[in-house]
Amino acid sequence: MNVKIKVNNINQKADSGETILSALKRIGINIPTLCNMEDLSPTGACRLCVVEDAITGELITSCSTPVRDKLEILTHSPKVIEARKTIVELLLTNHPENCLYCDKSGNCELQRLAEELNIREKTFYGDKPDYKTDRSSPGIVRDMSKCILCGRCVRICEEVLEISAIDLINRGKKTRIETVFQKGLYYSDCIHCGLCISACPTGAILEKSNLNELINRLGKEDKKKSIFVSSISIAYLAQRNNIRKYEDCRNYIVGALHDAGFDNVYTSAILNDYFTSEACNKIENNLKKDKTTIITDCPAVKKYLRNQDAELFEKLIDIPNPMQLTGDLFNKVIDFENDCMVSTVPCIAHKYEAIRSENTIKGVPKFEFVLTSNELDKMLHALGLSLPYTKKETPDKPSNSDSSSGVFFETKHGITEAIIRELSFRKGIVNKLNRIIEIKTDKDFIEYEFNLGKTKHTVACIYGVNNIKKYRSKILKSKYLFVELRSFEFGCIDGCGQTKTSEKEQQKKIRKIISDFDEKNNNNTAGKNPYIKGIYRLKQSEK
Ligand code: SF4
Ligand code: SF4
Ligand code: FES
Repeated sequence: MNVKIKVNNINQKADSGETILSALKRIGINIPTLCNMEDLSPTGACRLCVVEDAITGELITSCSTPVRDKLEILTHSPKVIEARKTIVELLLTNHPENCLYCDKSGNCELQRLAEELNIREKTFYGDKPDYKTDRSSPGIVRDMSKCILCGRCVRICEEVLEISAIDLINRGKKTRIETVFQKGLYYSDCIHCGLCISACPTGAILEKSNLNELINRLGKEDKKKSIFVSSISIAYLAQRNNIRKYEDCRNYIVGALHDAGFDNVYTSAILNDYFTSEACNKIENNLKKDKTTIITDCPAVKKYLRNQDAELFEKLIDIPNPMQLTGDLFNKVIDFENDCMVSTVPCIAHKYEAIRSENTIKGVPKFEFVLTSNELDKMLHALGLSLPYTKKETPDKPSNSDSSSGVFFETKHGITEAIIRELSFRKGIVNKLNRIIEIKTDKDFIEYEFNLGKTKHTVACIYGVNNIKKYRSKILKSKYLFVELRSFEFGCIDGCGQTKTSEKEQQKKIRKIISDFDEKNNNNTAGKNPYIKGIYRLKQSEK
């Protein structure tokens, strides 16, 4: 640290090039911010983070101003406090006052700032703009009357994803966030990943939910109801409720959902086992033709490729998505045309996937309700079924014999792990990813090397649609056995249908819960799942 600064009359040191905000954070001084977000470029748009230059009296934005030698600042002078208060008061001028009914209430940064700055009455009054709420996306609702124009959603979509589905349009009082042709998110390049929801400090962008409708239906005997619970939803609720073992949390959830009124409760890891087996069949075929197989089960990645990269989309292996795979496995226990089907997932993009034509029967989505992990949590609480105070039951057949790689499948490099294990198992080799040499660890592009019999193979995992763009020619020209594409570095663990408290800690905990389950499970590859074996035996006998 080579820069000498003075903060509130106390000498401090800072790194040259860092912002005043970052230096203050390290010193332990909390500065309120709104438009600033870690890993996004600072814009200085909201001016909430101002501090006072103790020499000139000027107010400077701490998030976008670098430290300089001999800088002297006051972080909480009367002038600074007054400025911050006025900024928030102005933001509240035309903000809707229906906080009680807003989904963001209790978790809203604007609400918290008003409380911290002790703003307890309205100072300014202004016209409320009459914006039409955008409900076109099946997973996201945009209510621009709650937007404070911080621009975080625009920057996350542009800088992290390089999608730019939304942007700031117009000037002055008419400024707002819009999609390119102002036709609604569904008609834009949006991949329904939900990152903008997690970036938005207010309730302007929220997850679309029909949870109340499902809860009302649960009390009624109208249709047989089946629910599929994803392994990440289980591990997410385990870490939220301090349940150490995956299998314990799974069984508490199954018991609770039976009590809630679901006739059948399944885990979706069996669908991952089926997907893995199908992928291995394709890889073995492609290997004979010396062809690289490109794989993803991520609906956001598929939407991106479908919209923006037809060449790569064409090269994706053609495996039915998990919702489609329910057909072969569950046709004896589910009446797909008449039963009510529900699934729980960590990611908002599945709400989009559920309405796509391949997942409909006679034009009606096969899954009537797609709940995020957060909604599952809310539903259990609303019904008084708090974990771990519920009875324990095992999942209904045929999802009572899921392999642990089907559970692991949704985590970081999970598909890669599941496939390598299964390919090895088919060759009579026991293999686990921790025995494979990671030959290049770039955060976004990871190559693994492993032996299948006497042959050495290399596979690759690419995280982030921006990186798929960046590495596309490498993917297309590569000689990998297969390439796994994912939206987020930690796989579905990073899904935006889960509240992130302390992101890194949470990722680690969820991954550990799943890894511990995997470590001690002997049923650890798709080919050991008796129901998957049964499917292939049946297919063989029908030939
Ligand atoms: S959901 Fe994702 S792709 Fe769509 S606007 Fe938000 S950040 Fe962009
Ligand atoms: S929608 Fe939310 S994140 Fe986007 S500019 Fe408005 S307040 Fe900020
Ligand atoms: S947080 Fe610094 S200007 Fe908005």
